[in-house]
Amino acid sequence: EAAEKGGYEHFMLKEIHEQPKAVRATISSRIAKDNSAVVLDELKWNKDFLNSFNRIFIVACGTAYHAGLVGKYYIEKMARIPVECDIASEFRYRSPIVDENTLMIVVSQSGETSDTLAALKEAKRLGAKTLAVTNVVGSSIAREADQVVYTWAGPEIAVASTKAYTTQLIVMLLLGLYMAGIRETMPQERITELIRGLREIPTQIGQTLEDEDPIKTFAKQYGFNEDVFFIGRSLDYAVALEGSLKLKEISYIHAEAYAAGELKHGTLALIVDSIPVIALATQKSVYEKTLSNIKEVKARDAVVIGIASADDTELEKYVDHVIKVPETDELLIPLLAVVPLQLLAYYAAITRGCDVDKPRNLAKSVTVE
Ligand code: G6P
Repeated sequence: EAAEKGGYEHFMLKEIHEQPKAVRATISSRIAKDNSAVVLDELKWNKDFLNSFNRIFIVACGTAYHAGLVGKYYIEKMARIPVECDIASEFRYRSPIVDENTLMIVVSQSGETSDTLAALKEAKRLGAKTLAVTNVVGSSIAREADQVVYTWAGPEIAVASTKAYTTQLIVMLLLGLYMAGIRETMPQERITELIRGLREIPTQIGQTLEDEDPIKTFAKQYGFNEDVFFIGRSLDYAVALEGSLKLKEISYIHAEAYAAGELKHGTLALIVDSIPVIALATQKSVYEKTLSNIKEVKARDAVVIGIASADDTELEKYVDHVIKVPETDELLIPLLAVVPLQLLAYYAAITRGCDVDKPRNLAKSVTVE
């Protein structure tokens, strides 16, 4: 097992560090050399096919569901088709409105999660066209769906998903760009700009992984708190949900993520002196709004760790610590912003002496309902 861990103490840390490679593999051969388009040979969709859909569902569990939330944002923004994102165990039991004009996308690292598989079967029964985004070739979900786009993350052993998540985000982004190209819902220059940015992402994830020391320090400093809050708006909110799940899964700290603007509708009551709040502020389009939410928690004496883009000079004036990630487009920055959150969860779990790769009560693949 030590050999399989490749010199790392845990599979999770190894898999966090494998993200540049996994992301590169998932992107490569899927973008045109001249950066003009996403090429998904496995799909060969055309305008008529895409125009036949009045709705897309993205259905998944756990971390894959969080990737789906980012997918909803990407596809709606880029391809202008309404997307509903649902938890697989909820989807089937609410009489979903699905017919032949529905595209069902299921996301699953293992391809074996029973709720996700059941949701896929139900959507098919109701007439939907189906697409699986999965990491395991020939898995049950891959076989059941009409079409598959694989994430090329390689085997993921740790229960807490890391490289599967980032590669799922990549596929969501590729799908958004691919659909936008076919439907002509985005200016060509913008597609090219995003693809150029995407090419830099593997290297930038590598840069994000270079300096773990501040994160180790925060984990030691705050690892014994029993409650941690994550806040963010827009894509930062989706990433906050994943950061919070990572932390609770492996460190058993009670962690909750909130849309920053929703704080004042309840959660603010829980923000008291010295409560750690991880505040994501990478989204330029909602930056000022997020900043005002951060000031609200600071006014209640929370300890705020901000996550910001490298070019940010504002946030450090208002928070206790800032972790910066390399500068990129705000649509791509979730791929970088999640990395310090994965590391924070990992080192918090280490601080608390938890079994990182096999957290209590959890399984890597849940094949019972
Ligand atoms: C389990 C794992 C999670 C994973 C979820 C969905 O709960 O512990 O890490 O996100 O299942 O798994 P899937 O294989 O469908 O992505």
